[in-house]
Amino acid sequence: MQDSDFLRAARREPVSHTPVWFMRQAGRALPEYRKVRAGIPMLESCTRPDLVTEITLQPVRRYGVDAAVFFSDIMVPLKAIGVDLEIVPDVGPVIANPVRDASGLEQVRPLDPEADLGFVTEAVRQLVGELGATPLIGFGGAPFTVASYLIEGGPSKNHEKTKAMMHGAPELFAALLDRLADLTAGFLKVQIEAGASVVQLFDSWVGALSPRDYQRYVMPHSTKVLDAVAGLGVPRIHFGVGTGELLPLMAAAGADVVGVDWRVPLDEASRRIGPEFAVQGNLDPAVVFAPWPVIEARVREILADGAKTPGHIFNLGHGVLPEMDPDVLTRIVELVHEASAR
Ligand code: CP3
Repeated sequence: MQDSDFLRAARREPVSHTPVWFMRQAGRALPEYRKVRAGIPMLESCTRPDLVTEITLQPVRRYGVDAAVFFSDIMVPLKAIGVDLEIVPDVGPVIANPVRDASGLEQVRPLDPEADLGFVTEAVRQLVGELGATPLIGFGGAPFTVASYLIEGGPSKNHEKTKAMMHGAPELFAALLDRLADLTAGFLKVQIEAGASVVQLFDSWVGALSPRDYQRYVMPHSTKVLDAVAGLGVPRIHFGVGTGELLPLMAAAGADVVGVDWRVPLDEASRRIGPEFAVQGNLDPAVVFAPWPVIEARVREILADGAKTPGHIFNLGHGVLPEMDPDVLTRIVELVHEASAR
């Protein structure tokens, strides 16, 4: 396993081919996923180890990707400590009592890993047994992205309430992000201790911030999460969308691999962050809907950009969309493996 191309690429070592996986590879693009999930609410499905194991394995079987990603959600630890929230289909996370003041903060109590996340330990252990030499990616939500749901009360385009708190009540904002950093660090540790061999910190919405605001208000908390798992021997991937201007800071926060969306070519991203980091990405998810010759040309371009970096893990620039054709994703995996074989 430590010798897998996935972990070798993350450590910037030579590989036999460029490894590939897809963010959100487990999910609604797969008919076999829709079948086993039918009638079971999202957050409940995350608490059933047998179901989690089956859903995590589905894309590995189907696509032949180089890694599995644990089926869960960035909101699961909040639910586990008793925050009243739901994941509403086609909407996203919805919070019953959004955090707007110091009293709202009390909902985010400290995590008791064994009591609160026993179902995660059980699922990860079961999965690692079934996966054999295929690495399992554990993950968690970065403090800013999770806070944006907690403060807004649900998905948001402009993050105005989040930014209003960040600028108008910076002490409250810092206290919230500090609690969320501890929570996500605990979630990641549970997954690593149970056998995950790499972790990804998702800061999906952090591209809404300027580098100055990121550095001042957010980066210390993401650094806290990544530092908390630094000594555990697993590579740390740090990902966000629209982060062209933030890439050097996201690397410096404590990443080993930096996730890059489709807006910045991988070799340029690597130039911005320096030679001490591998990169992950970055096919525009919308290109998956284009005719195959277009997809093929773009995949080859990305492999060529990636070959100029110290380590490349192929991925989409953001997640799989429910409308994607799974057969096209399989073909992309085959092409990445074939075209990058050395
Ligand atoms: O396959 C995988 O990548 C593993 C599982 C995974 C899920 N969520 C399962 C899920 C991962 C890594 C996540 C992370 C996550 N969750 C992020 C960061 C990744 C990103 O896309 O930026 C965010 C922002 C969330 C919060 C969240 N959960 C959203 C915005 C949604 C989508 C709502 C919708 O229905 O469109 C969810 C729900 C969710 N999480 C689904 C899945 C498979 C879909 C729900 C369903 O199948 O019923």
